[in-house]
Amino acid sequence: MASSKVSTLCAVFLVFNLTRVSAKIVASFIMPHGGIALDPRHFNTTNSTAKKEAWEIHNACVKVRQQMQQLKPDLVFLSTPHGVADLKNFLFYLNPQGQGHADTDNCQCPPCCYSVSVNLDTKMSADLVKSLGLAKNVSGLSAYGPPEQSSEPFPLKWGEVIPLHFIPGLNNTKAIILSQPSRRYTDDVAMIPELL
Ligand SMILES: *[C@@H]1O[C@H](CO)[C@@H](O)[C@H](O)[C@H]1NC(C)=O
Ligand SMILES: *[C@@H]1O[C@H](CO)[C@@H](O)[C@H](O)[C@H]1NC(C)=O
Ligand SMILES: *[C@@H]1O[C@H](CO)[C@@H](O)[C@H](O)[C@H]1NC(C)=O
Ligand SMILES: *[C@@H]1O[C@H](CO)[C@@H](O)[C@H](O)[C@H]1NC(C)=O
Repeated sequence: MASSKVSTLCAVFLVFNLTRVSAKIVASFIMPHGGIALDPRHFNTTNSTAKKEAWEIHNACVKVRQQMQQLKPDLVFLSTPHGVADLKNFLFYLNPQGQGHADTDNCQCPPCCYSVSVNLDTKMSADLVKSLGLAKNVSGLSAYGPPEQSSEPFPLKWGEVIPLHFIPGLNNTKAIILSQPSRRYTDDVAMIPELL
């Protein structure tokens, strides 16, 4: 997280190992969420520099996947600027499951068919909503059912699916997803303290 500007443009992973009483951040990564990073083979451009850069980003994502494989985190915390956004508040997704496809502007399914299904740690998300609260511009969002109990998955798209796609063994890992409010389009610099 060298640049706070970057953190408003990219999804951020924090990776935790948990014990019964404490949690420790073991790594953090800044991930892209565009289709060209996901699958540069389908990046339809005649610009060879752009194509080469897409492969560099993709290969860096693959390296993150390899590091995650070694870290075996108990929990992945994903902060995304392109999720389901409130005007004011940061939102934790409160469904027990999230699910969706990664169709993007540069590559639709088919041929780019990528989907993820992820178990969300609703208990910890709800605890964070409670402890941070509206005074810190933090709330929660449940889709199609009560918080922490909906039988429907929370709908995900490329803003979550592409970074999550690079997590190995996703179905054995729990995730927390936080969306950044849409005021970040206009107030990104003023929001630096909050984003940090
Ligand atoms: C790639 O882009 C060119 C020029 O814009 C277009 O004609 C072509 O149909 C595109 N190919 C694919 C597979 O989208
Ligand atoms: C090709 O891509 C590079 C890197 O994204 C960019 O800097 C350059 O302006 C592009 N060239 C053209 C002709 O669009
Ligand atoms: C909450 O958001 C408002 C803008 O809507 C901002 O002025 C305020 O500083 C934020 N609160 C915190 C604790 O960052
Ligand atoms: C977990 O995901 C992998 C692919 O990522 C799949 O092969 C495996 O069947 C899944 N396991 C369960 C228990 O769903």
